[in-house]
Amino acid sequence: MAGYKVLSFDKISSTQDYAHNMITQFNASDHTVIVANAQYAGRGRYRRKWVSHHGNLYASFIFLSPERDPRLSYTVAVAIADTIMSFGITAQIKWPNDILIDGNKVSGVLIEYSGRYVVIGIGINVGTNPTVPEYTTAKLSTYADVDLKELFGRLTKNIDKWRRAEFDSVRRFWMDCATGLNGFVKYRGEMVEMIGINDNGALVVRRNSEYFLIHGDEILM
Ligand code: BTN
Repeated sequence: MAGYKVLSFDKISSTQDYAHNMITQFNASDHTVIVANAQYAGRGRYRRKWVSHHGNLYASFIFLSPERDPRLSYTVAVAIADTIMSFGITAQIKWPNDILIDGNKVSGVLIEYSGRYVVIGIGINVGTNPTVPEYTTAKLSTYADVDLKELFGRLTKNIDKWRRAEFDSVRRFWMDCATGLNGFVKYRGEMVEMIGINDNGALVVRRNSEYFLIHGDEILM
C-alpha cells in the first residue's frame, strides 16, 4: 500500500478505538491505517453501534491534522463514492458523508480528532448488510463482484487523490452525487431547503428568500 503503514487484524474491538489508543500512546504516525475483517464493538455516528460481521470493510485512517477541517467530511465521502463507482456501481451521497445505493446506506464515515491527528473511520458493506432500526442498508455484492483487497487498495488511493485535490473539484463531485438537494430538511425545528455546500464546507440552506449557512451536524433529513 504505497505510502501507508497498514496494520491488519482479523477481529478487534474497533479499528477506530485502536487508532485512538495508538495516538494517545504516542505510537501513531501520519498515513497509518488500521484495517480489520470484523469488529466486536464497531462504533458509528451519534453513539450508534456499527454492526461489523466478516465480509465487509472496516478501516480507520490516521492523518496528521493539527487543525480541524470542516471540508474533510466531503473529501472522504467523495473518495468513497468514487471508489464504489469505479466498480460500475452508481452511488449517492447523503449529507454530509453517508453513501447510499438506491437510497440504502452502504457506507458510513466517523471522523474524530485526537491531539494533532484526525482518525477517519470508514465502514463499507460488501458481502453483508445488517438490519438496523434507523435506516435501510445495502451491500456492494448485490451490484457487482467486489474483492475486499481491491476495494481497500482503490479506497486508499482515492483518499490520497481527493485529499490532494482542490476543494472546488471535491465540492463539484459531491454536488453531482448528492441526494436530497433542493429537498427540505429540519434545522432547529424549522423546515429549510437544502441548497448545497460552499467553498468552506458549510451547508447552504434557504428559508423563504433568505439563504444562510450551517456549520456542523445540526440538520435532520
Ligand atoms: C456512521 O455511523 O455512519 C459511521 C460508521 C463508521 C464505521 C467505521 S467501521 C471502521 C471504524 N471503526 C469503528 O468502530 N467505526 C468506524
